[in-house]
Amino acid sequence: MLQKIQNIDIENKRVFLRCDFNVPFDKNGIITDYTRVNAVLKTIKYLLKNNCSIVISSHLWRPKDFEQNFSLAPVQRVLRALLRLPIILASWVSDEKTIEQAKKLKSGEILLLENLRFDSREKKNDENFAKELASMWEIYINDAFWVSHRSHTSVDKITDYFLEWEKAAGFLLQKENKYFKDKINNPERPFIAIVGWAKVSSKLLTIKKLLEKVDKIIIGWAMAFTFLKAEWYEIWKSLVENDLLEEAKNIIETAKKLNKELILPVDFIISDKFWENWIIKTVNFDKIPENFMWLDIWAKSIKLFEKKSESAKMIFWNWPMWAYEFDSFFEWSASIANILANSKWETFAGWWDSIAVINKMWLWQELSFISTWGWASLELLEGKKLVWIEKLKIKKISKN
Ligand code: 3PG
Repeated sequence: MLQKIQNIDIENKRVFLRCDFNVPFDKNGIITDYTRVNAVLKTIKYLLKNNCSIVISSHLWRPKDFEQNFSLAPVQRVLRALLRLPIILASWVSDEKTIEQAKKLKSGEILLLENLRFDSREKKNDENFAKELASMWEIYINDAFWVSHRSHTSVDKITDYFLEWEKAAGFLLQKENKYFKDKINNPERPFIAIVGWAKVSSKLLTIKKLLEKVDKIIIGWAMAFTFLKAEWYEIWKSLVENDLLEEAKNIIETAKKLNKELILPVDFIISDKFWENWIIKTVNFDKIPENFMWLDIWAKSIKLFEKKSESAKMIFWNWPMWAYEFDSFFEWSASIANILANSKWETFAGWWDSIAVINKMWLWQELSFISTWGWASLELLEGKKLVWIEKLKIKKISKN
């Protein structure tokens, strides 16, 4: 069982909080989406309420050494604004000065370490680095869901140096675990998944595993074209993975055998060029003109998806249907977001692009849960074990 932050004694303790602030930002260093920062505020506030002194750590992108562009300074500014508290940004990760700063922290104070990946030992799951980080703190809290499939020092090795009652999952990690493990494995039924991945190849195992759990699966975006071609429909210039047509056929067959509904779009917007000179026509899935390609789904597909979702007691949505960034295409992904928002049952969504649609429509309050998602959730969907679930139980070994 997962050790939870609310089940361990953290009052007045010195806490090391691992977050994942791997956020997108523009060329001016301005963060363009705060979802991952917002997502951990509950845990930070809980620690503050319990008079902890807190060191927050995260990686940002993939620097090999110090790179000013990947400093956590923009995150410091966002945290300061959201918490309305001073946040000290350390100059490094675990040098003497930082350790000194950390030791001087009083309860209610927050020190943000610099980007963990500035220290090359972070990605090596390094024992000495783990000891250095662990020796500063009495309690270890992990709320870094996105990176929790990585065997990196601050997620993995460091946990060897805390006892069962000194390390726990923060509120975000608990929620992600609840949805991607508990709820998906024991769903309210009917359970419908709406997935819009680009490639069958990278999500093959995920689709197969999801198929075992859902009652219906709606497949949109580019992946749908491979399935339609597998069903012998002409798709002309649309994106397709020809080497996976057999796999797609197998999945369609498996769905039939398992008595699961596999639902594909029934009409599309088409064009003769990708990303430019749109000639937009709308056609049924079996009527694509020669030398055209499919782009976004169209009105009949949305009607079909709405109908199929009507009775669902649990809906999971990942990825918009197509190029939601363009105003002319936004409407169709927005319709999917509305299917979830209008449901009175359990609904949850994940992945940047779905979150972007939900945020643009101000719908985040209408869903049961919005996941910070990432590869970690795919691995959970595929039934793999994640580092943090296993490691939060490991026995303490000497810090010296
Ligand atoms: C992510 O954004 O997927 C996580 O933060 C992991 O980042 P990484 O792929 O650079 O390890």
